[in-house]
Amino acid sequence: MKEFGTLDHEEVKMGKLVVVNGSYRRLGFTQKCLSKEAERIMKVYGIKEVEYFFLDDDLVACRHCPKCKIGCAFEDQFHVIAEALKDADRVLLGSPVYLDFPSPKLLAFLSRLTCYAENTKREFFRDKKAHLLAAAYCSGTKTVIHTLMGACEMLGFTIEGRSSKEYVQLWRDKKIRGGMTPEDACWLEG
Ligand SMILES: Cc1cc2nc3c(=O)[nH]c(=O)nc-3n(C[C@H](O)[C@H](O)[C@H](O)COP(=O)(O)O)c2cc1C
Repeated sequence: MKEFGTLDHEEVKMGKLVVVNGSYRRLGFTQKCLSKEAERIMKVYGIKEVEYFFLDDDLVACRHCPKCKIGCAFEDQFHVIAEALKDADRVLLGSPVYLDFPSPKLLAFLSRLTCYAENTKREFFRDKKAHLLAAAYCSGTKTVIHTLMGACEMLGFTIEGRSSKEYVQLWRDKKIRGGMTPEDACWLEG
């Protein structure tokens, strides 16, 4: 029988993963969790190419402007990431939990992707798989994952897996809480 979390040889295909870190701390907890989770995704799906982005603090949200077109009219970091997403098979979005919400800049980034979804009848992201990660001190990961899932679903991504990182900073017993399975969690050493 196939071991859980592995692929049969014929299922393995190369692909590209784009990782987007929505934290305001470049080397914070979210980054640690994302590295671990990206490693896992690469192993499980046989991915060889990864592009990693730390969102600029001044990335603007969608302004619902009248010039909406594929690619967005605003000039900022968004374009570099959007370009990387074009030939990506998977995207891993990571956010710290802020009062049960994803970070404002990750929400800003997702809102900007609307130009691709809206102008292609939501077809643009259809074949891309979204993986979601929330990093918290002690609570709110599930709410954040839920919020991100809703946004990704609206944008037309295929939701592939949940990778929420729960309670690990506070709870050291590694007990899985809140209906998670060990495969959902992303345990860090120490
Ligand atoms: C404004 C703000 C709100 C926060 N709200 C929560 C929260 O609701 N629940 C929680 O467990 N942690 C909360 N935290 C803590 C962060 O989610 C947690 O420390 C996270 O791991 C930080 O990731 P980072 O190191 O990538 O910034 C909050 C932190 C900030 C700055």
